[in-house]
Amino acid sequence: MKSDNNNHLWQVWDREADTWDRFIESGGDITRLLIHGPGMLELCLPAEGLKILDIGCGQGFFSRELARQGAKVTAFDFSPNMIKIAKEKEAENPLGIEYLILDAEKAGELLEEESYDKVTACMSVMDIQNPFAAIKGAAKVLKTGGNFIFSIPHPCTDTKLRKWHKDAEGKTIGLTINYYFEAGMDTFNWVETAIGKDMITPFHRFTLTQWSEMLYNSGLSIKRIREPKPDENLLAEKPGLSSMAKIPYFMVFETVKI
Ligand SMILES: C[S@@+](CC[C@H](N)C(=O)[O-])C[C@H]1O[C@@H](n2cnc3c(N)ncnc32)[C@H](O)[C@@H]1O
Repeated sequence: MKSDNNNHLWQVWDREADTWDRFIESGGDITRLLIHGPGMLELCLPAEGLKILDIGCGQGFFSRELARQGAKVTAFDFSPNMIKIAKEKEAENPLGIEYLILDAEKAGELLEEESYDKVTACMSVMDIQNPFAAIKGAAKVLKTGGNFIFSIPHPCTDTKLRKWHKDAEGKTIGLTINYYFEAGMDTFNWVETAIGKDMITPFHRFTLTQWSEMLYNSGLSIKRIREPKPDENLLAEKPGLSSMAKIPYFMVFETVKI
C-alpha cells in the first residue's frame, strides 16, 4: 500500500531489494552488525513476550533480531519486494514474524490504535518521505507508556558537508562539518559502500531540535539516547572503525508515549 505522493525516487528501495538483501546477508553493512544494530537492540530490551511493530523493516534484519529476543513481531515495509524476501526468510527459518506491505505514513490509520508495547524503526525513519506522519502513526499504535525506539545517522556529524582531514603523514586530524542547520532532503549514493553500485536513495536530515519537535508533537517524550561506538576490544579486532570511537556516527532514541 503506497501513499499517492510516494514518487519514483522513494521506490528505489523496491527496485533494489535484492541488492539490499545481498548487502545485509554478506555482512557488508558492518556498522549494523557491530555498532548501531547492537546499540538499538540494547534500548529495545527486554523484549520477551512483548508485541513489537517494526517500521520500514526492509528484508527483516532487525525484525528477526527482536523475534530472537522473544518478541511477538509484526513488521512492515512499503516495498513488496523487500517483504517478499522477508517472508522467504521467515518460511525458511520461522520466528513467528508477521510481515505486511504497508506505507508508514498510513500505518496510524490502518493498524489498531494503542495495540503495541514497542514500535521500532532501524535506520528507516529518515528514509520515509514524510517522517513526521510516520512518527505520529507510531505514537498512535503504541500503548500509553510504550516505547518508540529508532536509529538514525547522527544529526551532528552527518551534515551536508562532511570531510575528513589528514596531516602530511596521512594521520587523521579531524572532521569538518558544515550546514547543520540546512537540514532537508538529500540523496545518498551507495557506490562507495560495500554495495558498490550506483544506488541512489533519498533521505531527510533534521536538526536535533526538529527531531525533538516531531517527537513532542506526536505525544512522545525522549527517555534515553545512545550514540553507539566501538569499544576497545572491537577496535583491537577492527582498527578500521577507529574514527567511530572519536565522533558519533549514529544516534538511537528511546521515547515513551505519554
Ligand atoms: C535503510 S532501509 C532499512 C531497512 C531495515 N530497517 C534494516 O534495518 O535493514 C530503509 C527502509 O525503509 C523503507 N521505507 C521507506 N519509506 C517507507 C514508507 N513510507 N513506508 C514503509 N517503509 C518505507 C524502505 O523500503 C527500506 O526498506
